[in-house]
Amino acid sequence: MAKIVITGGAGFIGSHIAESLVTDNEVVVIDNLDGYYSPSLKQRNLDSISAKGDYTFINGDITDLKFVRSVISSDVDYVYHEAAQAGVRISVEDPFKPNDVNVVGTLNVLQSSLDAGVNRVINASSSSVYGKVEYLPFDEKHPTQPVSPYGVSKLAAEHYCRVFNEVYDLSTVSLRYFTVYGPRMRPDLAISIFTDRMLKNEPITIFGNGEQTRDFTYIDDIVKANLNLLKKSNADGCAMNIGGGNRITVNELLTYLRKITGSMSEVIYSDQQKGDAEHTLADTGFAREHIGYVPEIDIENGLKKFVEWYTKSLQHLS
Ligand SMILES: NC(=O)c1ccc[n+]([C@@H]2O[C@H](COP(=O)([O-])OP(=O)(O)OC[C@H]3O[C@@H](n4cnc5c(N)ncnc54)[C@H](O)[C@@H]3O)[C@@H](O)[C@H]2O)c1
Repeated sequence: MAKIVITGGAGFIGSHIAESLVTDNEVVVIDNLDGYYSPSLKQRNLDSISAKGDYTFINGDITDLKFVRSVISSDVDYVYHEAAQAGVRISVEDPFKPNDVNVVGTLNVLQSSLDAGVNRVINASSSSVYGKVEYLPFDEKHPTQPVSPYGVSKLAAEHYCRVFNEVYDLSTVSLRYFTVYGPRMRPDLAISIFTDRMLKNEPITIFGNGEQTRDFTYIDDIVKANLNLLKKSNADGCAMNIGGGNRITVNELLTYLRKITGSMSEVIYSDQQKGDAEHTLADTGFAREHIGYVPEIDIENGLKKFVEWYTKSLQHLS
């Protein structure tokens, strides 16, 4: 049994990782239940972990080094670092908070992990580090030119992870997630918003002409990639793509959702938002070679699973 700290474990991805680890490990979740989206959704995520097994929840802020040190102590084996100020658009409005949480917070996690002698830190990074597209799919050699303050903060955090490996010999790996979706996903993400509107037959606003493309990754594939890293040390110091391996346009996404929900929602096209990437598509060859990562859930099946879950959770609320 390993002792595993999960920062941001009350969030979407962190709570799924925690859920998959609680039965066989001592899990400690740290999260400040930040108000970026409803803390009651985060409480629901924590309840889902409890339903699977016992774990410890500690409410605290990763920008507080003293707090992080007090949790990441010498008996901790692994750290999954998922806490962040996520979201591109909020970072365009206020670049300081993403910098504090994503850069300073990551530095605090790394320094505490180094001092505590942790075996490995697995850092949640993002496809947003690529930004301007020079070619597709993105492999890890593609230039990194983020187009939002969020992307800059995730790239800086990645570099800190690499440097802590190269300079201080701390085992670190960064996983560049490509738009993650699935049950309990963040309510500010497109699939969540579109599904909600479609199930209520309400109008949907698309920013841009809908021809921008995304590589969507189902949450179970993300969890699997993370779990593989408990055993594999051959990617230390690296950043790797974790994507679904296919891209679809936002218009195609709507077509899939319409087919699944039978919705009559009207679609309204509006101006493109600042900071949004034009296209994303992951080359997952590096992850396949190093950690045996192969995405298994395609978009159509993933959306069906998500809509089924969302419909049930709406019924539960009403
Ligand atoms: N969801 C995606 O599509 C996606 C894509 C690429 C990268 N990521 C990255 O994956 C990670 C998890 O994302 P998510 O979608 O689960 O987001 P989320 O917002 O659901 O989870 C992040 C959690 O971190 C917590 N948190 C925020 N600030 C904190 C602080 N100062 N101290 C302690 N906890 C704090 C929040 O309360 C939240 O529960 C993040 O690092 C994000 O940047 C997500």
